[in-house]
Amino acid sequence: MLDNLVIAVSNMSLSEDFTNALREISERGFAPSGPVRTALAQEIVINPALRSHKFRRHAVAEKANAWTLGQIGSLLKPGELRTKMHDHAADEYKHFQIFEALSEINEYPSTHDFDFLLEKEKSFVASFDGDIVGFICDTLAAEVRTYFSLSAYVEPLRFLETQVQRKYNKALTKVLDDEARHIRYTAHYIDKWFRDGLELLPQLQQSFEVYNSSDWSDVRDTAEFIISHKDRNIASE
Ligand SMILES: [Fe+2]
Ligand SMILES: [Fe+2]
Repeated sequence: MLDNLVIAVSNMSLSEDFTNALREISERGFAPSGPVRTALAQEIVINPALRSHKFRRHAVAEKANAWTLGQIGSLLKPGELRTKMHDHAADEYKHFQIFEALSEINEYPSTHDFDFLLEKEKSFVASFDGDIVGFICDTLAAEVRTYFSLSAYVEPLRFLETQVQRKYNKALTKVLDDEARHIRYTAHYIDKWFRDGLELLPQLQQSFEVYNSSDWSDVRDTAEFIISHKDRNIASE
């Protein structure tokens, strides 16, 4: 359940309204489900070309997020939230570098540019309407999504050779630790806004809808990669 994850990683007690909102979103379901994610994560880890491709995608997504967080944070007056958003941007930029390095360590380094991820962020920032509450709700959903998708890689790492396994493990432990911190501060603000009386369920539902469509686009990208490299996989068997 979403509320349990947020409570566990944020290490705080959430207001009743925020907890209920997260439960309601969980009950509607968000995609892909656990077994789909687990199966895909295993496929990604054991297939070196696919692994490079996905970590390159993670890298560009982190870079795009870093840029957006920096831009939106700069629109705020100096204060705690602006500082946290800029620190967050710096973390995401570090993740870009970490994942970029991981996408280059095997015999199939990825050169895919994933420029559309950066373009999407540019048009989002260009049309940003100043709704910072909505932005933080979207950020929480994105951080939860990242947390789930990266956590799914940890268990299948056992299939890799020890040294490679260590590199990925070290990187993922560091990144997951940061992502938990991002969940913590965004959840802290949303919780405060709920306690102030803001009705945020519709916004959070919308934010997790975006999460769903990003997740499915990620699944589609993985499936397309597998299909387009099918001949090579068969040939190498
Ligand atoms: Fe990140
Ligand atoms: Fe993050």
